[in-house]
Amino acid sequence: MRTPICERLGCALPIFAFSHCRDVIVEVTRAGGFGVLGASTFSPDQLEAELRWIDQHVDGRPYGVDVIIPAAYDKAAEKSLEDLEKLIPREHKDFMERILREKGVAELPLDERERVHREIVTGRGGMTPDGARRLLTVALAHAQVKLVVSALGSPPPDVIDELRARKIMIGAMCGKADHAKRHMEAGVELIVAQGTEAGGHTGEIATMVLVPQVVRACGGKVAVLAAGGIATGEQILAAQALGAQGVWCGTVWLGTRESELDPFEKEVLFAAGAEDTARRKARTGKTVRMIKSELSEAWEQPGAPKYLPTPLQGILYNEVHARVVRARRKELYSFPAGQVVAMINEEAGVRDVMYRLQMEYVEAAERLGRIAASE
Ligand SMILES: Cc1cc2nc3c(=O)[nH]c(=O)nc-3n(C[C@H](O)[C@H](O)[C@H](O)COP(=O)(O)O)c2cc1C
Repeated sequence: MRTPICERLGCALPIFAFSHCRDVIVEVTRAGGFGVLGASTFSPDQLEAELRWIDQHVDGRPYGVDVIIPAAYDKAAEKSLEDLEKLIPREHKDFMERILREKGVAELPLDERERVHREIVTGRGGMTPDGARRLLTVALAHAQVKLVVSALGSPPPDVIDELRARKIMIGAMCGKADHAKRHMEAGVELIVAQGTEAGGHTGEIATMVLVPQVVRACGGKVAVLAAGGIATGEQILAAQALGAQGVWCGTVWLGTRESELDPFEKEVLFAAGAEDTARRKARTGKTVRMIKSELSEAWEQPGAPKYLPTPLQGILYNEVHARVVRARRKELYSFPAGQVVAMINEEAGVRDVMYRLQMEYVEAAERLGRIAASE
């Protein structure tokens, strides 16, 4: 399944793994794929610690970092990290509090509440262009970072110039062929065409339709990866048949032994079907495909407050989410996951997943070869 992107980035397989979990990044990278750490939930100090650990465990192999550089966000939130809490209206806090009280979900113990709050404000509060720049300053001090990907918009010109000067490949997520054109004009060299079935921030176009459109729009000038709904070797082969050089997967890693999810969260994940996910704004203020719950759906009801802009909605929602996880309340649990969650039903090690993907790919390629050769 090797394609030119492997040569360019120095990996054996064009299987890109997006994860917020350093263990997943390390295991995928060591198994020949290319791990990309989602940095946007970390504070700069936390990111430094994560990257130092990854450096120590990938045996000199290259890996990537993903930052969220939203085109639309709350400008006031960019200025005052400490005061973010004050920017969240009372009405919104009361709305969440009322639901949790009615459901009997306990407050976090005080020390945990303070820690979670600090982590979320410093992490989620960084989901602005300046926040992303702070994270990139950390990432660029790590020589093994060979790819930087931006989500929710093209990287600004100063970021593009800096990455080019350091010979770091520049990638960007895209949900429409028009986005791909804009990214190319901005200087992006790797486009991740992510279909609506993907977990996380997604658009409306399905991977099967989006990938060939983006491949055509790029005209062979930049590499395209397919994302959204890919968790088997057959799907990797299909993505390559559509013109992608490789695949970029997120949901499949959530069910691995190495993932950041705890056993309660994995139980919800393994039980979820494709129809249990939906695109909702409750988590970040922008549409994220995630597992639906009574909490995510409460925001869709008449009379619910309006969603807050990024990053405020994320700060509000994630504090509540921490309480739900601690209380182990399945009916209130929502986490980003794609439709392919339906195919992830038991825990497996990252290495096993990487092996399975390759075996399935070979079998599917042989099957297709026989079909193509038959009269
Ligand atoms: C839990 C989770 C968090 C995500 N967070 C981000 C993010 O911060 N930045 C980003 O570019 N993509 C993010 N994504 C999307 C992934 O990069 C990827 O495109 C997507 O998971 C691919 O589709 P799949 O979920 O069907 O594998 C996230 C996905 C998941 C499942």
